Amino acid sequence: MKAIVQSRYGGPDVFRLCDIPRPLPRQGEILVRVHATSVTSSEANMRQGLPLYGRPILGLFRPRRPLLGLEFAGTVEQCGPDAQRFPVGTRVFGFTGFRCGAYAQFLVVSENDSVEVMPKSASFEEAVALVDGPTTALFFLHKARLRRGERVLVNGASGSIGTAAVQLAAWMGAEVTAVCSAAKHEQVRALGAHHVIDYNTEDFTLRHDAWDVVFDTVGKSSFCRCRHSLRAKGRYLSTVLGAKILLHVPLTALFCDKKAMFGMSVNKRTELVQLRELVEANLHAPVIDRVFDLEQMPEAHAYVDSGRKRGNVVVRVRQDPT
Ligand SMILES: NC(=O)c1ccc[n+]([C@@H]2O[C@H](COP(=O)([O-])OP(=O)(O)OC[C@H]3O[C@@H](n4cnc5c(N)ncnc54)[C@H](OP(=O)(O)O)[C@@H]3O)[C@@H](O)[C@H]2O)c1
Repeated sequence: MKAIVQSRYGGPDVFRLCDIPRPLPRQGEILVRVHATSVTSSEANMRQGLPLYGRPILGLFRPRRPLLGLEFAGTVEQCGPDAQRFPVGTRVFGFTGFRCGAYAQFLVVSENDSVEVMPKSASFEEAVALVDGPTTALFFLHKARLRRGERVLVNGASGSIGTAAVQLAAWMGAEVTAVCSAAKHEQVRALGAHHVIDYNTEDFTLRHDAWDVVFDTVGKSSFCRCRHSLRAKGRYLSTVLGAKILLHVPLTALFCDKKAMFGMSVNKRTELVQLRELVEANLHAPVIDRVFDLEQMPEAHAYVDSGRKRGNVVVRVRQDPT
């Protein structure tokens, strides 16, 4: 099978298109014929061996796993012994976690991991765009226990998590303020934002007592800078791990009526099911910026490295004629 292989950390040019053996499903596993994968900010970081504190898992000096790729959408090709959840031919989408391997024509996953039946109406490209940002946005909004009528600010509203957070928070009945550059205001308004702020002309942290939830999807602020912007019992959410959030989570849990929160969205089954239902009811739509082919993985990563993508970057995996 064709796969994108990486033998060292570095820029987008570390990727090589190779022919490698197709994996075999073992006990409780399924073989997925991958039709689409994606390039997220997390994968662009992992390609470079970042963050450094992740190296014990990623590999100290070179990638432990030569195949990157965490999100997939495809069809079940073969079931291993005792794998019964998905019959052969089922269209599935999911997340590999740190096992990776989705930058390839075939992938083996445990049927009990983050894998679910795709939304009926969705293409493979649309389904794979639901896996990273939308599931993470849902995970954090549930963690904050966002309630109808609350005011939420989404920082990084034009990114993968951000475009989903704006839609989901509006669907949950919150009043949404989206923070992104002016060129993207029209798009985030169309997704459901009630108010917009251009971070180049206004520092949202200078507005006091304004939001019940500040959701920083891109890690550009801190709890300390945002705490005056939060109303009483406000929650500050960060998707990006750093020393400050590690300190603020336990301190605010013990001593403050405003809370800092962090989490890792890793087991995504609940969120995949909820997103499937929302997409099938036309209540959520993934935002796709650009679609590349598997052979164009270096170009796809270079585009994500620019830090300017809108929503999601999808990679189509063409299958050899059989
Ligand atoms: N904790 C978890 O479970 C988890 C899960 C997934 C991802 N993550 C992490 O979450 C982070 C965000 O991921 P993502 O994929 O949503 O990001 P992304 O799609 O790469 O974000 C790109 C967007 O960021 C915006 N941006 C850049 N600088 C900004 C600033 N100073 N203020 C506001 N917006 C700015 C850009 O908009 P403009 O062009 O308008 O600037 C662009 O549209 C990554 O670090 C990722 O590793 C965490």
